[in-house]
Amino acid sequence: MDEIYEPEEDSKLLEKYVKTLTKGVVLDMGTGSGIQSKAAYDQASKIYAVDINEKAIIHCKNIFKGDKKIEVIKSSLFENLSEELIFDTIIFNAPYLPLDEGDKDIALDGNIGGFKIIELFLEQARPYLAQSGIILLIFSSKSGDIISLFKKYNYEHTLLEKIHIFFEDIFCYKLNLNPFVKICPKCGSTNIMVEGFKYTLDSCNDCGFQIQNFPEIEITEIEEFKKQLKDDNF
Ligand SMILES: C[S@@+](CC[C@H](N)C(=O)[O-])C[C@H]1O[C@@H](n2cnc3c(N)ncnc32)[C@H](O)[C@@H]1O
Repeated sequence: MDEIYEPEEDSKLLEKYVKTLTKGVVLDMGTGSGIQSKAAYDQASKIYAVDINEKAIIHCKNIFKGDKKIEVIKSSLFENLSEELIFDTIIFNAPYLPLDEGDKDIALDGNIGGFKIIELFLEQARPYLAQSGIILLIFSSKSGDIISLFKKYNYEHTLLEKIHIFFEDIFCYKLNLNPFVKICPKCGSTNIMVEGFKYTLDSCNDCGFQIQNFPEIEITEIEEFKKQLKDDNF
């Protein structure tokens, strides 16, 4: 069984912002030792502490035993979380180190250069995040280009702090849902792939339509946009 992640500088960096920015219902993804749930405790109304690692789950169930404010759940990302749940704060000190030969520790291995798990997390987190909710995320410079992922999954990001440890930079980001979303002018899908930065070529993952820069609308206007498209096609 994998060991529980011993809090390091990355944990301490995140802990600092969890203490000041946490609000409402909290998801502590990859809870490990439970350090972030403890930091969130006073500001939170309810905490869901999640980990894939059985040892971390046993440990957290033990330390939070009898505490109704904290629920400890074994899950790979959002797999075992009810779809009804909406979080005001999601915390994730993601596994982020690229995997070295022979090194197979799920506390560190983000799979494919630390990137895959963060991409899955950002994709799956969106429907669980309240409109005014925040994600507090730790990311390492060793893992790749995170900004393109924020863009792809339509998050606004603020860099809270960067620290340098040995050969890497550790970043602590605050993410918000971008209230605007790109929409396909042909089929109304918001499942859009954006390529390039300055001159973007947008393509619809559902109908395949491509042009430079699809229109951006407020999330609350999606249904009206789709209805308009239908009416125009009749
Ligand atoms: C870098 S450690 C962070 C632990 C703790 N939150 C902290 O700040 O010290 C990453 C944690 O993510 C967990 N983890 C890895 N893959 C996961 C997955 N697919 N779903 C949930 N947790 C995962 C690991 O078991 C580990 O506890």
